[in-house]
Amino acid sequence: MIRNLIAVAAAATLAAVLSGTAWADVAAGKTIFETNCATCHGMTGKGDGPVGMALNPKPRDLSVGDFKFDTDKDGETGTDADIKAVVQQGGAAFGGSALMAPWVTLSDEDIANVTAYIRSLKQ
Ligand code: HEC
Repeated sequence: MIRNLIAVAAAATLAAVLSGTAWADVAAGKTIFETNCATCHGMTGKGDGPVGMALNPKPRDLSVGDFKFDTDKDGETGTDADIKAVVQQGGAAFGGSALMAPWVTLSDEDIANVTAYIRSLKQ
């Protein structure tokens, strides 16, 4: 019995490590997203929140998972590092919309969690 539990726990840990989400908490990220981001990005991330609908450019449709900013110029947009930089420094820092504001109140852990949640919105 205990042995089985250990095996299950080990398998779950391995799965989390393999998917690169060992330390990100998607449920915590969801709370952060719904509290801070959904007014613009929409509850399902489609950019159709009550404020977001009126914006130009529109908030990114996170259910598509197609990102614009390559903040570290590594040739790839929307890496974890890019999302972190945009959330921390805001869109304007990378030539985008200032309405995507710098979220200085979010910790590195909050951003990792909300990033994991954003990834989970991709359909
Ligand atoms: C006031 C509206 C607003 C709020 C609130 C908001 N955003 Fe945005 N967000 C935008 C807009 C507008 C863009 C598009 C910026 C552009 O294209 O210049 C954007 C873009 C993004 C992008 C896309 C970056 C890329 O490279 O394409 C991410 C990721 C993002 N927001 C995450 C978040 C997160 C996480 C939060 C909450 C902590 C949040 N946003 C809150 C308006 C908002």
